[in-house]
Amino acid sequence: MSEQTFYVTTPIYYVNDVPHIGHSYTTIAADVLARFWRAQGRDVHFLTGTDEHGIKIVKSAAAREMTPRQLADDVVVHFQDLWKDLNIANDDFIRTSQPRHEQRVQALVQRLVDQDDIYEGRYEGWYDEGQEEFVTESTARDNDYKSAITSRPLTRYSESSWFFRLSKYVPALIEHIQAHPRFILPEARRNEVLSKLALGVEDLSISRPLEKLGGWGVPMPNDPTHSVYVWIDALSNYYTALGMPKIGDEFDGRCERFWPCDLHLIGKDILWFHAVYWPCMLLALKIPLPKTIFAHGWWTAEGKKMSKTLGNFISNDDIRHICGTYSRDVYRYFLLRAVNFGSDGDFSRDQLQLRYNAELANGVGNLLSRTVNMIGRYFDAAVPAVQDDVPEAVAVREAAEALLRGAAPAMELCQFHVYLDLVMDLVYATNKFIDVTEPFKLAKDAARKGRLATILYTCAEAVRIILGRLAPVMPETARRGLGQLGLDESAAQGQADRWGLLAPGTAAAKGEGLFPRKS
Ligand code: MSP
Repeated sequence: MSEQTFYVTTPIYYVNDVPHIGHSYTTIAADVLARFWRAQGRDVHFLTGTDEHGIKIVKSAAAREMTPRQLADDVVVHFQDLWKDLNIANDDFIRTSQPRHEQRVQALVQRLVDQDDIYEGRYEGWYDEGQEEFVTESTARDNDYKSAITSRPLTRYSESSWFFRLSKYVPALIEHIQAHPRFILPEARRNEVLSKLALGVEDLSISRPLEKLGGWGVPMPNDPTHSVYVWIDALSNYYTALGMPKIGDEFDGRCERFWPCDLHLIGKDILWFHAVYWPCMLLALKIPLPKTIFAHGWWTAEGKKMSKTLGNFISNDDIRHICGTYSRDVYRYFLLRAVNFGSDGDFSRDQLQLRYNAELANGVGNLLSRTVNMIGRYFDAAVPAVQDDVPEAVAVREAAEALLRGAAPAMELCQFHVYLDLVMDLVYATNKFIDVTEPFKLAKDAARKGRLATILYTCAEAVRIILGRLAPVMPETARRGLGQLGLDESAAQGQADRWGLLAPGTAAAKGEGLFPRKS
């Protein structure tokens, strides 16, 4: 049987400014999924990158007296550095200004031209430069001719343009969405897209005069005076990064295995592009559609919309500061723990501190140190074998089995909050088990050593399972914790993991606390 694959992507980020918490959110979520499925034995491909063309970049570059390429070369490093600092293990990083991408975008557009899905017309209307989005008259009017996202005034355009026959593919798209409940997640977003589609969709202007972009863009293959619309260029990255369509003999057959993509992770503001433009383009090209597009919510900071003027903007430097105070694993944990994935959420330093103390220091850290300490003291630092029956242990085992059973289904649906709830349920059940059974009291009575052995085996086994599940979210913390139980990650992950795999006799060695106190 061929190995199961998992291909996950983040949006490719604009290089007009440095990364912030929103970018880190999607990228961390994708990294956690990639690590989880890798540990489950899937062949994973995790792609991220940067979106470097378009008027937005051209204007930002001009404002800084740089060329767009200089700006892109400068800013891309901030993204790459932040991903390193957040321990992101992507397999590839695509930049839309790379020749490998540009030539394949042209090949895709040429195919659309050849099959008469692209025609010449005239675009008259509004454009949202912040979003790189064409806006209809009625939407423009409803928003007072301002961007619904950035509130900046819309730009008026009247120019010749090439159009993609988007409307021709909308009926097939609607059918696809209806037949595939997991194509757009969460469900509320899927309904939103379906309602908007029902209102009717016009063909899409997919080119801009290249001179208006100072030559910065992918030329239309049929008309080099025009550049491919930045969203058509950008969306194609998910396919071109795999080396497709094939050009010459540089094609790496391994990549073909990853299409159709399993998951495009995106923010809610860019759902329409991903759920309508991209699939219609693929339908036209007869390329299979991605399996799932998941749109997550937006972060505010300290109760307000993030903005540089309000001073609550959480930039790459702020993220590094938070990671320095706690750790990068704690930051990763908090982002996925504090908010249901799919909903909006607020980043608050007080909340981070509270969760750090309650869940990580007093929860996970305390459980590990109590367990390792007692095994050290009462069993010469070797995990004991189960001896007497301890009825109270059933609750721990049940929580562990609920976690083992529920982990993959939660990850299938990007429900990190459900996943981490299951982890914390086991943490609480095991800490409670220690409080109830009071193993430190049993130690004084030699006749009760059999009961003590079962209790400590149960704790150690629970800790192994907890740290194994935390590993995709908190890779370094989990490695350190498992090390104290004499294990590496491979002993705590994988599809075949089940209760009871911890071998008695494993050497437990007390180490530094996983979560030092912070005031
Ligand atoms: N370049 C396009 C994407 C092209 S994908 C083919 C783009 N780039 S972006 O840099 O502006 O934004 C990338 C992502 O960051 C989006 O998914 C967006 O939702 C996300 N976020 C931007 N601000 C955010 C928050 N405040 N909170 C959460 N995510 C946010 O769009």
